[in-house]
Amino acid sequence: QDAVVVAIDGPSGTGKSSTSRAVATKLGLRFLDTGAQYRAMTWWMLTNEVDVDDAAAVALASDKPVLVSGTDPLNPTITVDGVDASGPIRTQEVTAAVSAVSAVPEVRARLVELQRTACAESAAAGGIVVEGRDIGTTVLPDATLKVYLTASAQARAARRSGELKGVPGAGQMSVEATREALVRRDAADSGRKTSPLAKADDAIEVDTTELSLEQVIEAIVTLVDEKL
Ligand code: C5P
Repeated sequence: QDAVVVAIDGPSGTGKSSTSRAVATKLGLRFLDTGAQYRAMTWWMLTNEVDVDDAAAVALASDKPVLVSGTDPLNPTITVDGVDASGPIRTQEVTAAVSAVSAVPEVRARLVELQRTACAESAAAGGIVVEGRDIGTTVLPDATLKVYLTASAQARAARRSGELKGVPGAGQMSVEATREALVRRDAADSGRKTSPLAKADDAIEVDTTELSLEQVIEAIVTLVDEKL
């Protein structure tokens, strides 16, 4: 039997991470958060004083950080040059800068290669759930199942500001400010030239606005079962 590859894409605040981790756990698959890799790259640029709005400087530095993503869905970690960056990559400073860094083609080429390697390495374990923005369109066009998660901007902002409450350094932002930041980031991610946020033609769209996390997880597990 071939490895199972599940691609989960969509804008921020649709519950992609929680959903993807739970689906991977239920199906006994590995898990990869590609957003965390773009965030880790951004954190490295900020820490090393690379001007994130200077695309040429970002491109030049993009092969310097050593990124290692753990693929255990129960304990996803990311290290940068051997340092655990799981906390620092969630700060507002990183969130505000990540769209600029992720629009740089050299950054994307490097991370897409890491993502395809992680996918190949997961085959022995049965497969992987990969979440991001361009997984179904660009990174893994032959995925077993492609899901595109959506939700209203209001629902997404409410979820995101709830999630950030417990994160040190994430700061306190109202739902309204969170909504504005999120809409701005989605517009940047959808509007960039190199593999923008987009639904693949063969992806199944799931609108999570009125669904509980448990319902979304069940829907995706059922879709995977149907493919096997
Ligand atoms: O999912 P998360 O909000 O952590 O992603 C952070 C940012 O990383 C996104 O806003 C986007 O700019 C970038 N990203 C991307 N392609 C992916 C995953 C994330 O460009 N596959």
